[in-house]
Amino acid sequence: MEQYAIKGGNPLVGDVEIGGAKNAALPILAASTMTDETVYIENMPDVRDINVLLQAMQGIGVMVKRTGRHGAVLNAGNINSLVVEDEGIKKIRASYYLLGAFLGKYKHAEVTLPGGCDIGFRAIDQHIKGFRALGARVVIEHGLIKADAQRLVGSHIYMDVVSVGATINVMMAATMAEGMTIIENAAKEPHVVDLANFLSSMGANIKGAGTDVIRIRGVQKLHGTEYTIIPDQIEAGTFMFAGAVTKGDVTVKNVIPKHLESITAKLLEIGCQVEEADDCIRVVATRTLEHTHVKTLPYPGFPTDMQPQITVALALSKGTSIVTESVFENRFKYVDELTRMGASIKVEGNTAIITGVEKYTGASISAPDLRAGAALVLAALTAEGYSTVDDVRYIQRGYEDFHLKLQALGAQIELVETEKDYQKFKLKTG
Ligand code: EPZ
Repeated sequence: MEQYAIKGGNPLVGDVEIGGAKNAALPILAASTMTDETVYIENMPDVRDINVLLQAMQGIGVMVKRTGRHGAVLNAGNINSLVVEDEGIKKIRASYYLLGAFLGKYKHAEVTLPGGCDIGFRAIDQHIKGFRALGARVVIEHGLIKADAQRLVGSHIYMDVVSVGATINVMMAATMAEGMTIIENAAKEPHVVDLANFLSSMGANIKGAGTDVIRIRGVQKLHGTEYTIIPDQIEAGTFMFAGAVTKGDVTVKNVIPKHLESITAKLLEIGCQVEEADDCIRVVATRTLEHTHVKTLPYPGFPTDMQPQITVALALSKGTSIVTESVFENRFKYVDELTRMGASIKVEGNTAIITGVEKYTGASISAPDLRAGAALVLAALTAEGYSTVDDVRYIQRGYEDFHLKLQALGAQIELVETEKDYQKFKLKTG
C-alpha cells in the first residue's frame, strides 16, 4: 500500500507552480455536457477526482480526449444515457454536478448519491429545493437522485445555508430554464465565479456571480468554448502554510492573490512575512509563529479547506489559539493523529483549543481525508525524525504530484510501497 515516507526538519525553500482548481474543474467538466458542440479545457489538474468524473462521463458516451496532462477536448453530442451510477463516481462529491447539468439541458437526470470526504453530514436539501423551485420533480430512489421536468421555469430561490454545491447546481439548471432565476444567499467562492464565467463563455446569461445574489436569464442553447480554469486557491494556501510551518521561504506561482487574502491575513497575524506580486505570493517564516484565533466561513472568510493546515501551524505557535469550524461538523478527525505527533489540542464540538508546543515528533499516521491528509504531511515535514503517512489516496484526490512538488522545495519525502522501500528511504536520508 502506498504511503509517504517523510523525514522532517528541512525548511522548504523555492518556487512552486500551482495547478488548476479542482473544485472549479469538476463543475466545469460537468457543465461541458450542456452543449452538443466541442469544449476545450486548459489548466485542468491531474488528480483522482477529476479523472473519476471524466471516466464516468466517458461511460455515458461523452467524447473525452486528453490534450497533454492538463487539457481535454470534450464533446457530449452523443450522450447515450442520463443515468450515472458508475462505481467510481459514488466516491466523489462532485458526481451531483451532472444532475444540474443534465436537468438544465435534458430536463432529466439520474445520478448516484454523492460520496466525498467524510467531514460531517453533507446535506443536499438546498440542491433539491432549488431544482424543485425551477419546476423539477426530484426523488431519491435505489441510491439515485432522480430529477425531471416537463419544462424548467426561472424562480426566486433563497438558499437557507451558503452552499457551494447547491449554488453551482442550481445555477447550471437555471442557465437553460425559461426566464429569470434569482439565487439569494449564494456562495461567492472563486470556483462559483469560474463556473459562471465558463457558462457565460458558452452563451449563458449570468450576472452577479461572486456576490450573494446571482441572476440567471435562461437561454435555449449553449455553444462550444475554450476555457482555462483558475488556479487552485487551496493548493496555493497549503504550500503557503508549508513555508510557514517549516520556517521556510516559499513562493507560490500562478495564483490569484485576491483569492488568497484570508490566508495571507492569517499568515501575517502569526508572524510570517508575505510579499504579493501580480500572480505569485512569497511566504517567509524566520521565527516561532504567534498564536491567533480563526473561524472558518464561506468565501471571502477563511476557508474550511484550510482549517487543518492552519491548525498544524497554530499547534506549533506561542500561546493558545482557538480554531472554530463553522462549515462542516466533523472536520477535526485528524487531531488524534496530530496529538500522536506531540500536539496539544482539545476539541469541544466545533472548536479546537490549541496550546502551542515547541515541536512535533515523527509518527506513523493516516490521512483521514484530503485536506487533513495534506496538513498531516506538513506536520511530518517539520517533525523531528521519521513519519509515515498512510491512505495517501485521499491526498491524491486533490493534490497533483504533492510529494514531488514538496521534494522540489527541499522536503525529504517519498512515495513508498513496501517496508523495504521505506528502509531504503531511511538509509538514503539517515
Ligand atoms: C464544496 O463542498 C467543496 N467540494 C468542499 O471541498 C468545500 O469544503 C466546501 O464546498 C466548502 O467550501 C467541492 O467543491 C467538490 P457546501 P460542498 O455545499 O459543495 C451545508 C475539498 O477538500 N449544506 O458549501 O459539498 C453542508 O452540510 C472539499 O476539496 C446543507 O445544509 O459544500 C455544509 O455544512 C471538501 N444543505 C455547508 O452547507 C445543502 O443542500 C457547506 O456545504 C448543501 C450544503
